[in-house]
Amino acid sequence: MDLERLLTDRLTPAFAAVAGEPVAPTVRRSPRADFQSDAALALARRLGRPPREIAQAVLDRADLDDVCAVAEVSGPGFVNLTLADGALAGMVAALAGDERLGVPVTGDPATVIVDYSGPNVAKEMHVGHLRSTVIGDAAVRVLGWLGHRVVRVNHLGDWGTPFGMLIAHLVDLGEAAQELSIGDLDGFYRAARSKFDADPAFRERARQRVVALQGGDPETRRLWRLLVGQSQRYFLTVYELLDVTLTEEDFRGESAYNDRLGAVVTDLDRLGLLTDSAGATCVFPPGFVGRDGVGLPLIVRKGDGGYGYPATDLAALRSRVDELGATRLLYVVGLPQRQHFAMVFAVAGQAGWLRPPVRAEHLGFGSVLGPDGRMLRSRAGGSVKLVDLLTEAVTRATALARTRDPDLDEAEAAEIGRAVGIGAVKYADLSTDRTRDYVLDWERMLALDGNTAPYLQYAYTRTRSVLRRAGAVPGPAAGVVLGTPAERALAFELLGFAAVVHEVARTAQFHHLAGYLHRLATRFSTFYERCPVLRADGELRASRLLLTDLTGRTLRQGLDLLGIRTPDRM
Ligand code: ARG
Repeated sequence: MDLERLLTDRLTPAFAAVAGEPVAPTVRRSPRADFQSDAALALARRLGRPPREIAQAVLDRADLDDVCAVAEVSGPGFVNLTLADGALAGMVAALAGDERLGVPVTGDPATVIVDYSGPNVAKEMHVGHLRSTVIGDAAVRVLGWLGHRVVRVNHLGDWGTPFGMLIAHLVDLGEAAQELSIGDLDGFYRAARSKFDADPAFRERARQRVVALQGGDPETRRLWRLLVGQSQRYFLTVYELLDVTLTEEDFRGESAYNDRLGAVVTDLDRLGLLTDSAGATCVFPPGFVGRDGVGLPLIVRKGDGGYGYPATDLAALRSRVDELGATRLLYVVGLPQRQHFAMVFAVAGQAGWLRPPVRAEHLGFGSVLGPDGRMLRSRAGGSVKLVDLLTEAVTRATALARTRDPDLDEAEAAEIGRAVGIGAVKYADLSTDRTRDYVLDWERMLALDGNTAPYLQYAYTRTRSVLRRAGAVPGPAAGVVLGTPAERALAFELLGFAAVVHEVARTAQFHHLAGYLHRLATRFSTFYERCPVLRADGELRASRLLLTDLTGRTLRQGLDLLGIRTPDRM
């Protein structure tokens, strides 16, 4: 049950009657009343009538008696709605009986591609890949829970000229020695790079390997597969530690589109969209100009005849639409690639490969900053290794758990440390507007108070401990009594889950879900302090247990959608 939707549905016919045409009134949660709509203001402007008069006319016609205690005009012409406690109690009781917490499976499932993580073979994942992985996985979880057909695509960087030097370096080292370097991908890459820069003979061998790789030479391909496989295995260990749903089957690297690159060029050519520019084959999509006012090219084939990143993305897009039947394409990639995706989508649009109802969205995100407010760097000045960061999170969280509860045994402490440490990293990411940068601050992320994973996880454990001590969960038939403001506020918040889940499914702005869960936990904490549960009797006790249980279930489901675990104890 979605309260916003319920009230919107009640107001819609009244607005239509006043306007003489359909109006879509928006209803928002408001601190003044429970809900507020400003739709009368816009309508009044259109009709040239006083806004308060319009608002009153709408209220006179709206059928709200069974749900609202107060429905009134306020300020310049807002419609303020306060729910009746009885209605609220009834809705919360119904919610408690719903396994899906008021969020139905969609009746209109879409095939959604989520392109995320996308690390590069023989290179360490960096924090940008962390953000992509965490955000993309939240999108997968939310859309999947709503019943959409979600296809995870891990667009692994597994192709291109650097593989010449990587393979040549692998041959120099010997396969056995190379095997040891897993976990030091950057070291391997750097060594290859410096030989490439310093040694002309090596450079020549690397160049030949590129030719051999592209030509399908079996031995070169085998060595390439070895490198790819090794990196994949390594990335899978990171995914496992990070608790994300990506598996081996989800790798669909750049090389998967090799056979389709030629068709991208021939088809664009047939459509008359290609231009030669300094030897390269390009499309100049309208509306993209550089600072100098000159049109920007999307290079589909380089001067040397090779295809690059843009051609691969065009081929991938076509395959996702035509073969996978996707109607929504999500690309979870850092904001520096904004222009790349805008141009790829524009060209795909020009070519007719991307057209409504199919939509492509670049879900861009900002950077992770160090405590000094600059790009996060390791002590040595290089980029931070993701595993090191995650290991540090788990170590710190485990130590904190031990200090809080010295009686924890080894296994319990490890399990809590992992759930809290990884949860804290993910939550810090998902609780900020993804388009912004954020500072990685261990103290803040791991704090038991504030908008943090541990705070929410802790609230969850409190609900569990109340229920454990009560010995039984109230049946769904238990009535709800909203005798105090704290109970009412908690009940009201519980009813907001559906709206926020629908919103994040649409916008992938997961900080709204995080903010919601934080509000819910805060309301619960007030309720917990002011409303004794176990010491209450009869109906009141049952009602409070129901609210406690429902809070716990909502926190658990909400955190699960963000990919965060909820231990039973902390
Ligand atoms: N491998 C790329 C990188 O590290 C990310 C791939 C993103 N996905 C895509 N379809 N281009 O920047």
